Amino acid sequence: MSGKIEIIGGLPLRGRVEIRGAKNSALPILAATVLTRGESKIRNCPALSDVRASLEILKYLGCCVRFRDGEATVDSTELNGAPIPETLMREMRSSIIFLGAVLARFGEARLCAPGGCDIGLRPIDLHLGALGEMGARVREGGGMIVCTCPDGLRGADISLSFPSVGATENVMLAACAAKGTTRIFNAAREPEIEDLAAFLNCAGARIRGAGSAEIVIEGGKRLSGCEHTVIADRIAAGSYLAAAAITAGSVTAVGARAEHLRTVLPVFRAMGCEVTEVCDGLRLDAPQRLDAVRYIRTMPYPGFPTDLQAPLTACMCVARGTGIVRETIFENRYKHVPGLIRLGADIRLEGGCAVIRGVDRLTGAHVEATDLRGGFALVLAGLAAEGKTTVSGTAHIDRGYENVCGTLRSLGARVCARQTGPDRGNAQ
Ligand code: UD1
Repeated sequence: MSGKIEIIGGLPLRGRVEIRGAKNSALPILAATVLTRGESKIRNCPALSDVRASLEILKYLGCCVRFRDGEATVDSTELNGAPIPETLMREMRSSIIFLGAVLARFGEARLCAPGGCDIGLRPIDLHLGALGEMGARVREGGGMIVCTCPDGLRGADISLSFPSVGATENVMLAACAAKGTTRIFNAAREPEIEDLAAFLNCAGARIRGAGSAEIVIEGGKRLSGCEHTVIADRIAAGSYLAAAAITAGSVTAVGARAEHLRTVLPVFRAMGCEVTEVCDGLRLDAPQRLDAVRYIRTMPYPGFPTDLQAPLTACMCVARGTGIVRETIFENRYKHVPGLIRLGADIRLEGGCAVIRGVDRLTGAHVEATDLRGGFALVLAGLAAEGKTTVSGTAHIDRGYENVCGTLRSLGARVCARQTGPDRGNAQ
């Protein structure tokens, strides 16, 4: 079932928004429970469709799973290793994150070969190459990838040619169960990697260096269930600060951490916003009109995050002056641009960059979300536009933003969610 969001734009957003746990931490941590024996409690777990899909996958594998009030309880003592249904794997693009843990626990993992997706091809060659170096055998055929390691995995020195987040996580998970020590060179340094390591270490693993480019994992430790609180979602925080920025509003992102947004906050400041670290989060006060930033380039952490590229592009649409945004992580991540243009933005795509000339106003229209962050960017533009904007395809947005309409309404926005499809109705 997909839905749409209707927005009457032009109101400044004001107030406080509680930032939930990071989706990109919660997903690998849920996958990590496959390696443990016993019950784990994962607190501050966001109620998102990807999290629900992960919990379904865990159930298929034989885990006892409960999810209530942002707390996921997973008992993975008795697992059967039943193959994960294809529909479930396709539903969640991040199901690849189960590869390392399932392979390590059962000696075999099957997954659907990933195809093209909303923001371009998502190859998994780095994941498969690294697992191969750890002793896994990889076979492909009939749209499936089958990894086996009948004799178990062994520690290895893994040099990633690119600091892939997912590949780093898969290697960390597999390495926990491998014989010997694994070193990951050029590892991804995202805070979510540190959070995964914190969970695994709490469960009994020996991981050092997470958050740096070299991670060392001593394998073979017995992991048991543990309790963990997921870190606040830096991307959701940045997204709601962008909502304040684009509407000339003032929003406090409660729970947001400045150290996770070190390359993002200066961009808001360069646009004329005042960003303050307050006792319980980050507050952004926006000027009446934003200034364009000359150049933003997405980079692996701690660089400017690709996941905030689309929201910041939306902000630039109504800024004073011209700016350039260069996406370097996912080459195809400009799918929100046609929607922004439809709302009146002046954007040219040239040479792998978006050249954005700020306009005086955007005007409401019907646009379609085709990916998570791009979809949120369209909502942002709708909040700033005159008149009514309808954003369809909101299932994409629900993958990363919990109760997006309710949250925006609590900040003073005029938005409502409507279901489309057979059981059409108001779904506020
Ligand atoms: C994760 C995040 C996603 C974020 C991205 C980059 C999760 C669930 N998702 O995605 O929100 O946008 O990091 O910060 O945590 N690549 C390869 N071969 C591989 C793996 C990756 O070429 O085997 C390429 C990808 O095509 C892409 C780049 O590396 O161009 C980054 O991908 P990666 O860091 O792996 O992102 P994800 O883990 O998929």
